[in-house]
Amino acid sequence: MSLDTVTLRRRLQQALGKEFTVGDLLGEGGFAAVFRVREQPLNRDVAVKVIDLGLTPSPSLAVRFVREARTVAQLEHPHIVPIYKVGGHKNEVLYIVMRCLDGPSLRQLLEKYGRLSVGDAGRIGRQVADALDYAHGFGVVHRDIKPDNILLDTSGHVLVTDFGIAKAAQEASGTSQLTTEGMVVGTPQYMSPEQATGDAVDARSDIYGLGVVLYQMLAGSPPFDGESAQSILMKQATATPVPIRQLRSDVPPALAAVIERLLAKDPAERFQTAEQVSRALVEALPAAAGERVRVRGSAVAIRSLVGVGVAGCLAFAAFVAGAVVVSWTLFSGPPRLDAVAPVPDSVATALRRRAALAPSDTVQLAFMPDGPQDSILLVVGQRRVVVAAPRRTRSYRRDSVTYTFFASWRGGPHFLFALLPATRGGRRDTVFTHLSLRGFWTLARRVNRLLPADPRVGFHIEGEIRQPGYRVKRRVESP
Ligand SMILES: Nc1ncnc2c1ncn2[C@@H]1O[C@H](COP(=O)(O)OP(=O)(O)O)[C@@H](O)[C@H]1O
Ligand SMILES: [Mg+2]
Repeated sequence: MSLDTVTLRRRLQQALGKEFTVGDLLGEGGFAAVFRVREQPLNRDVAVKVIDLGLTPSPSLAVRFVREARTVAQLEHPHIVPIYKVGGHKNEVLYIVMRCLDGPSLRQLLEKYGRLSVGDAGRIGRQVADALDYAHGFGVVHRDIKPDNILLDTSGHVLVTDFGIAKAAQEASGTSQLTTEGMVVGTPQYMSPEQATGDAVDARSDIYGLGVVLYQMLAGSPPFDGESAQSILMKQATATPVPIRQLRSDVPPALAAVIERLLAKDPAERFQTAEQVSRALVEALPAAAGERVRVRGSAVAIRSLVGVGVAGCLAFAAFVAGAVVVSWTLFSGPPRLDAVAPVPDSVATALRRRAALAPSDTVQLAFMPDGPQDSILLVVGQRRVVVAAPRRTRSYRRDSVTYTFFASWRGGPHFLFALLPATRGGRRDTVFTHLSLRGFWTLARRVNRLLPADPRVGFHIEGEIRQPGYRVKRRVESP
């Protein structure tokens, strides 16, 4: 089915009136198109989804659609795309006005990169689980969880869109789950076994859909694909996916187990609530507690610029390259997770299950930097300090640790953060080795209020500055 976007655009402009100017087409799905629209009085862009009612619109179905969409519009959650308005016009178009997201969709990310880092996949999966949990609490089942409906804003937060819309729109436009041509509306790759076989669908169907999306983010393709929709649906109902660790060995076994359970054929064998999924993800991968997904890109170009500068062996070029690195470090994104009390419950629960935090211990700081070390989580509880890395968790009594920062220059400035636990006989536990200036600044302010700085070490600069024309060796600034 292809949409007549020219007609839809004209009808939408008529429906919205003079205060709105319909702009670019942002995308189209099976039965709807999404336009960027300028809302003049508020001076902002919104995204408007227009449903094509087909040739034989049914007024009663249209009324029902508007009612369902208004239920969805009640959902207010940081990981759900907010709906501002729902409307219809002369039985010709139905439209939904919502926040316009300027980041990529997960589908675009996957098209560009094939697969994502384990940390990003975990963070996206956990944010989708939180959105689902909230919507399920209102009795809203999404029914169409797939990468196209998972959007990012420009700072890398995840927002899920189209809750319950697919079914309502299919009904309003007069198509059932299976269209007259025997084609499937919806995306077979993400349909649960019960959707595939036409059985009753509940919240656990979304949990399966999330399992497919997680699998795809890690493996690069969904567990089941095929020549025809029918063959994919058949596999959803009966075939066993290739275990994720056979396709991606760096997936921690605990995360692989979560995905396997999400993809159970029998809904009763899956996690029963999305809240359980969210917790299980953070427990398997502490990095999943983070919020910001790194949209890769600019850093690559800057790194190659540095390469050219240093290779040129010119002091000036090195200086320029150094300045570029400095500004990149300085202006790099905010930390993935920077939470002071109240800290998301999932963080503490995950650490408690790993026995790193006592049940009664409350979390006062959870910090995860942006950048290459974005899978290491530092948690300061009332009684313990925990360093949770993908493979190992270290936990110290809070009253036995001091901390210190270092700066090091290895191809550019980096800040290091270390704990000095009394139990390690003076040996330090280096927690972060690649903090940006921004990460250093944020963490320093936080940690300063919670832990004593080490009186013996203090802040110092380590390593060599190997730039032509400069040679400073092991300069220690404070005693
Ligand atoms: N709120 C939004 N802000 C920006 N782009 C959006 C928004 N909603 C949808 N889009 C874009 O429009 C495309 C079409 O959306 P849709 O009609 O829901 O079809 P599908 O979800 O099947 O791709 C999406 O893939 C997405 O890229
Ligand atoms: Mg959509």
